[in-house]
Amino acid sequence: MGTVGREGYRVSHAWQNQLKSKRDFDNLKSATIASMRRITDCTSSAIKDAATALTKGSLVAFPTETVYGLGADATNEDAVSRIYKVKGRPSGHPIIVHISSIGNLEKWARNIPKYAINLAHAFWPGPMTLILQKTNLAKHYITGGQSNVGIRIPSHAIALALLKEFEDQGGHGIAAPSANRFGAVSSTTAAAVDIELANYLSVNDHILDGGTCSIGVESTIVNCTQDQPSILRPGAITKEMIQNTLRRSIGPNLSNSKNTKIKVAGSLESHYAPRAKVFLTGSPEFGDGFIALDSIKTPSGAVRIAAPKSNEEYAQFLYEAFRSADKKGLKRIFVIPPVGNDIAVAINDRLIKSASDKCVDKRPV
Ligand code: TXA
Ligand code: MG
Repeated sequence: MGTVGREGYRVSHAWQNQLKSKRDFDNLKSATIASMRRITDCTSSAIKDAATALTKGSLVAFPTETVYGLGADATNEDAVSRIYKVKGRPSGHPIIVHISSIGNLEKWARNIPKYAINLAHAFWPGPMTLILQKTNLAKHYITGGQSNVGIRIPSHAIALALLKEFEDQGGHGIAAPSANRFGAVSSTTAAAVDIELANYLSVNDHILDGGTCSIGVESTIVNCTQDQPSILRPGAITKEMIQNTLRRSIGPNLSNSKNTKIKVAGSLESHYAPRAKVFLTGSPEFGDGFIALDSIKTPSGAVRIAAPKSNEEYAQFLYEAFRSADKKGLKRIFVIPPVGNDIAVAINDRLIKSASDKCVDKRPV
């Protein structure tokens, strides 16, 4: 048996013979590689190694304050194409480029409107992505062939340290979609990344473990390619926060609209979906999963899978709750959505997408 991985692992022939089938062996092999790839002690030398791996074309999954990202050098077409393979994502989807500071924005974006600069100063580093006119650095494999590019500066300390180190080593930005298989629930823990992607990552790829993401739903995406900004995907930076910063009202959420020329985030039929069917109306029966704020009682016979005490906690634990329902083998999850103009808007956006019948049944495995 050969040696694999940075530190290497070895499975003896005797042990291999005891495994019932090649599939058992492959599962053990990928589990072993995965657990070695996951770095729980993110020291500066571990971050340095991860940044070097990125410069060599490997993938690094890393924590952000929203969800985990699956990162690649945003200027390396081969590396970015591996993101598509690992995620099982159809080609032609744009990918957000993460950078460490506003000073690097003009490498990727041009003709940046004044309001976008104001938003950047107000909310970066943080859970907001700006869609801007691209420069030549942003190639078709990043933009999905569009003339714009999505840029974000995350605030998670490990993400920022990785970005800074990568830039110190000559990199320009890290392309990173959420670290999950296409159509599935985003990962908010490193363990979820491991489970989701272990079978698809290679030995030189890394997973940086930064614990549970504090926000739990993906960034607010703001289209800044027009005279007026508009929200393409709601997130923790709310419409009110944007309006208060810009001191003007902005258009309706475009997240569920077909009237935009921009490829809208999460607008495909399969998105944010667990294996279990999600219901936003009706009552659970015996053995069905149930998610609602803590103040709402569990209907008799239902399996409570989350009881968040606030809308913020609801966002933070929603995807883990979906995962736990799948782990328990539940077939249906009944959800009472949160109410409000805060992060509840983002939660409702994801719930509506995960609840579509089409989404759930066509989810890739
Ligand atoms: O919080 C987040 O945004 C996380 C973390 C890792 O940064 N990332 C994330 O990436 O959610 P992803 O690829 O799973 O979702 C980003 C969405 C996609 O639906 C993509 O189509 C859209 O943003 N997007 C990216 N670049 C775009 C662009 N140039 N124009 C329009 N939509 C874009
Ligand atoms: Mg995603």
